[in-house]
Amino acid sequence: MINKSVKHKGVIFDLDGVITDTAEYHYLAWKKLADELNVYFDREINENLKGISRIESLEIILKKSDKFFSEEEKYYLADKKNEYYKEMIKRMTPKDLLPGVVDLIKELKDRGIKIAVASVSKNAKTVLSNLGLIETFDYIVDAEKIKNGKPDPEIFLNAAAGIDVEPKLCIGIEDSKAGIEAINRAGMVSIGVGNYETVKGADIVLKDLSDPLPILNLL
Ligand code: BG6
Ligand code: MG
Repeated sequence: MINKSVKHKGVIFDLDGVITDTAEYHYLAWKKLADELNVYFDREINENLKGISRIESLEIILKKSDKFFSEEEKYYLADKKNEYYKEMIKRMTPKDLLPGVVDLIKELKDRGIKIAVASVSKNAKTVLSNLGLIETFDYIVDAEKIKNGKPDPEIFLNAAAGIDVEPKLCIGIEDSKAGIEAINRAGMVSIGVGNYETVKGADIVLKDLSDPLPILNLL
């Protein structure tokens, strides 16, 4: 919820699809697996996987299959997808940052705003290293630090505690429906980027971060 008289002191970024386009690599890796399994999968279904853990994503994909998969088979398949994904992120460099990200981070740092990353990905630290951003953020929350994934607010509340800023003074940025819900439930201002239908529950929706004025106006 936006209270315009409040000066926000912290900004919490999701990683995949906000800082870099790994959301596309997640899609391509799932698509490869789904094709191998002869299971129908498209970009519309993929929108529901954004922000959701690896194994939960697989469960959603397998709903389109009439076959039974044991827990062991599911872990094997999730691992297989992750191998495809890891191959794709190997070649990432700082050139793979999405528009506006570098400038926004610099502006926030110049203004003394604390910044954090809140990602449910087990690959978050590898991606941040490849992007040259591992030392940039004041705090990083990934899958290791949380019990409940998005849309539970835990990951954003953990990030706020990590940068020592009250949740109501934080802004969260997300490209997923589950992530926007998590930010809203954490009592923060939510900024949605990317697919409009997916992030329409956000307080502010932006195409990307190349024009960050609506965010800077909240500081
Ligand atoms: C999220 C992505 O950031 O991380 C999801 O939006 C992904 O699509 C999730 O499933 C888990 O990622 P990983 O790297 O642990 O498989
Ligand atoms: Mg995301």
